Amino acid sequence: MLSKELNERLTRIGPGTPAGDLYRRYWMPVAATSQLVGPSRIRVRILGEDLVLFRDGSGTLGLVGEQCPHRGCSLLPGIPEQRGLRCAYHGWLFSETGEVLEQPAEPAESVFRNRVRAKAYPVEELGGLVFAYMGPDPAPLLPRFDLFVEPGGLRHIGVTHLPVNWLQIMENSLDPVHFEWLHGHYGNHVFASKGMPQTTNTTAKHIKIAFDRFEYGIIKRRLVEGRDETADEWAIGHPIVFPNMLRLGLGPGVSAFQIRVPVDDTNTLIWWYTFFHRPDKNAQQESVPVFELPYKTEDGETITDTIDGQDMMVWVSQGPVYDRSTEHLGTSDRGVVAYRRMLQEEMAHVAEGKDPVGVVRDPSINDSISLPHERHVHFSGGPSYRDHLMRTSGMRYSPLQETILEFMLEEAVEPAEVP
Ligand code: FES
Ligand SMILES: [Fe+2]
Repeated sequence: MLSKELNERLTRIGPGTPAGDLYRRYWMPVAATSQLVGPSRIRVRILGEDLVLFRDGSGTLGLVGEQCPHRGCSLLPGIPEQRGLRCAYHGWLFSETGEVLEQPAEPAESVFRNRVRAKAYPVEELGGLVFAYMGPDPAPLLPRFDLFVEPGGLRHIGVTHLPVNWLQIMENSLDPVHFEWLHGHYGNHVFASKGMPQTTNTTAKHIKIAFDRFEYGIIKRRLVEGRDETADEWAIGHPIVFPNMLRLGLGPGVSAFQIRVPVDDTNTLIWWYTFFHRPDKNAQQESVPVFELPYKTEDGETITDTIDGQDMMVWVSQGPVYDRSTEHLGTSDRGVVAYRRMLQEEMAHVAEGKDPVGVVRDPSINDSISLPHERHVHFSGGPSYRDHLMRTSGMRYSPLQETILEFMLEEAVEPAEVP
């Protein structure tokens, strides 16, 4: 149980809040590259700030405050020019660094433009995502985690806008036992009500769980009935890359990141980043497709027959910002406690002017950062591999996704070939 004050402190992420200051020390994915093809702009709301992400005619990306510093018009309807973004109202032109390049209505000899800047944050593309850094200078390196840079794979990106605070999503990642109940017993209850086949590989009882710190966050481990300590999910575990990314195996040949980016205190953007291994390391993928992964059906029903849907159902049901002053934690919740402790420690590091855990500044380690990962997880398999993926990832709720899945399963390596 937390005091109301501590609950506020851990969950609020606007500018100047302790958790907001912490998040601003890490690069955050704010869009998919494929959302910005050619000169274009989109609205982005991240960490409680309204921003406009644009690509100009030269291909350069910029992320600027939505309000024009002249007289506050939105830059969203602005014109992406060969260089920069031009405000629709009086034509001020801004570079990707926020510099005012032109003020067409001012005298030609005026130096007024040198005294004004738009709010702007650095952005970089990696692995089909656009990342932003919203913290103090000097910006650290954008970490090149393995699935973003591994050659030859096929990738796709799902995105969900979920109306809940980010912390209840992250706490789920430190909670192995829910798998057996929410995705096992409850999942089977849902399948039974729909006349769908039951699964037995999701209901294995948890014998023990463990949480160990590593240089990028926390490794979560579980040992379930029917497996021994050499099983990947115990011997290797899966990492929670602090503060907001999970790396997991979805079965042979398929790995995933889930990245949860706070939009504001009561909304979170979830990136479901999936990587299919292929034997040909030189194979190229022209662009990484992005699709919306819903948490409700078209009829407004909460999706409960996929693992992703079940997770999103419980996160939303905890309320916009879960009030932890009413919770009752048991021994099975010690991963949640470990994560909250780490949050407070890292907030303290930031308050002291230090880098929090996992910030990368050494280019010599950043070609590809390999994270520990499970290859054969206890719940993979089932009636068919395709069926397993559909149940795991909510793919059945996107027609586009069916097409991508068929293509990827043809191209992906056979399970037996995966190292
Ligand atoms: S409000 Fe943007 S140029 Fe005037
Ligand atoms: Fe889950």
